[in-house]
Amino acid sequence: MRRIKIAVVEGDGIGREVIPAAITVLDTLPLDIEKVPVEIGYGKWKRTGKAMTDDDFDIFESCDCIFFGAITTPPDPDYKSVLVQIRQRFDLYANIRPIKSLACTGMGREIDFVIVRENTEGMYSGIEQVLPDAVHSTRVITRRGSERIAEYACSLAFEKDELLTIVHKANILKSCWLFRDVCIDIAERRGIRWEDMLVDAAAHRLVLDPGRFDVIVTTNLFGDILSDMSAALIGGLGLCASANIGDNYALFEPVHGSAPDIAGRGLANPVAAIMSLAMMLRWCGRVRESDAVQDAVYDTFARCVTTPDIGGGCSTAEVATAITEAVERKLAA
Ligand code: NAD
Ligand code: IPM
Ligand code: MN
Repeated sequence: MRRIKIAVVEGDGIGREVIPAAITVLDTLPLDIEKVPVEIGYGKWKRTGKAMTDDDFDIFESCDCIFFGAITTPPDPDYKSVLVQIRQRFDLYANIRPIKSLACTGMGREIDFVIVRENTEGMYSGIEQVLPDAVHSTRVITRRGSERIAEYACSLAFEKDELLTIVHKANILKSCWLFRDVCIDIAERRGIRWEDMLVDAAAHRLVLDPGRFDVIVTTNLFGDILSDMSAALIGGLGLCASANIGDNYALFEPVHGSAPDIAGRGLANPVAAIMSLAMMLRWCGRVRESDAVQDAVYDTFARCVTTPDIGGGCSTAEVATAITEAVERKLAA
């Protein structure tokens, strides 16, 4: 099997804890993997005045994909998010964020849905005009951008004959008219069961009755906000993984940020990073190893080996060790 070359960005804050924890899991797998560490983010910005350089992009281009921690946003009005730059430069248009309840979180409800977030346009277009007394941020929604994310979401819904929920704000925003209509057309053409919902009502329904959702497709900023909110439904940001997928490249990262409030104390939950690793392995075609990692996380939760955010008393490294041992047992079986 071909060697996989992965750019590893720990980033800042708890990125420096959860990514090494996930790498200990990766290192137990019998795979031919080359890891290329890349320093970008706030730490680099403080040292050099730049959070990322063109050389970093050259390294990314030489790799198959990126495994990414989190970056603290530098306090610089001219800063352009490095994560958004990577998403746009590699055209990683589909941001896939599974929300699935785990044992031992004390959250009770059975929840299993996925947010399919458009990842390259919308409010993140980068078109902004700063005037002395006003700032204009341009929301760009294109037919092509809407079509490809709708196709992606429909493919996921088709796999398990699931309901597609198209989330928008078309009662107010003309840009959402286009998004909604394109999504409906594609769902109809592909024979997918669909409904559409205004984003405010969707937020309400998600909290009241999250079990009714299967696949949610939405625009960039709505997807960002709904994903953190949905994380709270299953026990918090420490559990939520994501994949940023394009036609030829991908980046895998926890949904959470650098969490400066808990950084450096061994409190960070590594599960979001480890489940992102599982998503990366699947994308790389290493399905058996991906399943082993995912099942090892479920087993470890069933034994209530968790960090304090989930009510447990284990450190980041202890949880990672337990998951690593569970992976070893699975691969040996
Ligand atoms: P955050 O996601 O870092 O933290 C929100 C809350 O969730 C905090 O209370 C934190 O302690 C908790 N939390 C997050 N991850 C956790 C984990 N793995 N285990 C346990 N608890 C966890 O959001 P924030 O505080 O608003 O942002 C901090 C910084 O991160 C900001 O500079 C923001 O711009 C940046 N950010 C970066 C990314 C990224 O690079 N992918 C994503 C989101 C935010
Ligand atoms: C996320 C983050 C990013 C976003 C930021 C850090 C650019 O919040 O991945 O959810 O807004 O997309
Ligand atoms: Mn976010």
